[in-house]
Amino acid sequence: MLDRDQLLTIADQYGTPTYVYSESVILERIDRLRFHLEGLPLQLLYAMKANHAVPVMETMRDKGLGIDAVSPAELLLALRLGFKPERILFSANNMTDEEMRMAHEAGVILNVGELSRLEKLGKEFPGSSVCVRLNPQIGAGHHEHVITAGEKSKFGIPVEHIDRIVDVAQRYDLRIRGLHQHIGSGILDTETLWKAISVILDASRSFDTLDFINVGGGLGIPYRPEETGLDMELFESLIVSPLKSFIASHPSKNLSIWFEPGRYFVAESGVLLTQVNTIKHSTQRIFAGTDSGMNHLIRPAMYGAYHEVRNLTHPDGPVATYDIVGNICESADYFARDREVAHLTEGDIVGVMNAGAYGISMASTYNMRSLPAEVWVDVNNKATEVRKRKTAKDIVDEALSSGN
Ligand SMILES: Cc1ncc(COP(=O)(O)O)c(C=O)c1O
Repeated sequence: MLDRDQLLTIADQYGTPTYVYSESVILERIDRLRFHLEGLPLQLLYAMKANHAVPVMETMRDKGLGIDAVSPAELLLALRLGFKPERILFSANNMTDEEMRMAHEAGVILNVGELSRLEKLGKEFPGSSVCVRLNPQIGAGHHEHVITAGEKSKFGIPVEHIDRIVDVAQRYDLRIRGLHQHIGSGILDTETLWKAISVILDASRSFDTLDFINVGGGLGIPYRPEETGLDMELFESLIVSPLKSFIASHPSKNLSIWFEPGRYFVAESGVLLTQVNTIKHSTQRIFAGTDSGMNHLIRPAMYGAYHEVRNLTHPDGPVATYDIVGNICESADYFARDREVAHLTEGDIVGVMNAGAYGISMASTYNMRSLPAEVWVDVNNKATEVRKRKTAKDIVDEALSSGN
C-alpha cells in the first residue's frame, strides 16, 4: 500500500482532492486471484466500470486480462488501448441496434441479456456467435442496489427460459458460445456465490457448443476493520475444485471458465486524498468539512458504504469522533459518520481508503465542481498525474461552449 509520506508528498505536489492508485496493489491482486484459480482453464476479464483510468487499463492489458465493457465508450476505450476484440465481452444493458452493430463490427463478443435482443441479433446477423447472460435467480451483494440477479432483477434471461434461448438460436443458426452471469457486487459469502454458479453450470449442460462459462465478478474486499475479505481457502474448495471436475465432464470440449471482477482488482489500490478545511463544533457533533464530497465518492451516500478515513497529517493525536463531510449541498454528503479518527485540525490531509473501485468512475461534477485529479504510482514508486483538476473557469467555459 502507499505509505503516509508518499501520500502527503502527492497531496503537496498535486493538491487535493486527488485520487491516488498503486500499481503494485493491482498486480498483487491479479496474481493472488490467478494463484487461487490455478489449474482451471481460465480467462480473467476486468470489469472496467470499476475504474477506467488509462494506466489501470494498461496494467490489466499487460497482465493478459480481457475486458467486460458495458457501454460504447467503454468498448471504444478498450479497443483503442489494444485489448484484443476476442477478449472483450460487450454487456450493454438495454442494448440498442446501433450498439449491437458497433460491437458486431468490432468483432467483440456480444453478451445478450434479453430474448428480444437475441431475436434482433439473429435477424440481422444470422449464423453469428453470441454469449447469453442468464439470471440464475440467486443474487447477492453488499447492498440491495448492487444485487444483479434474482426475481426482482432486470438483468439476464431467467434460467427457466433456457428452452426459449435454444429456440431462438436454432431459428437463426446462432452459436451460443458463452453463458454468463453476474449476481452482484461486494460478495464475501462464498456459499451463495457457489449456489448461483451451480445453477448456470446445470443450465450449461443444454449446450454442447460452449467455449466459455463466465461466472461474473462480485468478489468482495474487506472495507471494515473487522472484515477479513474472501476466505480464499473456502473459495478454492467450494468453487474452484468443483469447477475443475465439472469441466472435465462437460459435453462442450475446450471449455474455459471466465471471471470478471472489478472491485477485487482495484478497490484496495486507491486512496482519495482530501483536505479538512472546516472544523465545526455543533451542539451534538463535530463536523470535519473537506474539499471533496459525495460527487467524488458516492458510495457512502448511495449504499451507506464504509470507507476507512485516516488523518495522514497527524496520525498519532488523541482520537475523537467526527462526521467527515463534503462540500456538496446535500445532507447525504459524507464520507463517514460517528467515526473515530486521530484529532483533526483545519489543514489536515485525510485519506479515504479503499477508494480505487467505483470512486472516480461514479464521480460527477454536481454543484459544478471539478472531478478530482488522479495520480498513478507505478511499481517503481514513480508518481504521474493522469487527470488534472479543472478550474471553475474551465468548467464554465465548457458549459458556455456547449450551449448549456
Ligand atoms: C456484468 C458485470 N460484471 C462484473 C461486474 C464487476 O463487479 P465487481 O466490481 O463487484 O467485481 C459488474 C458490476 O456491476 C457487472 O455489472
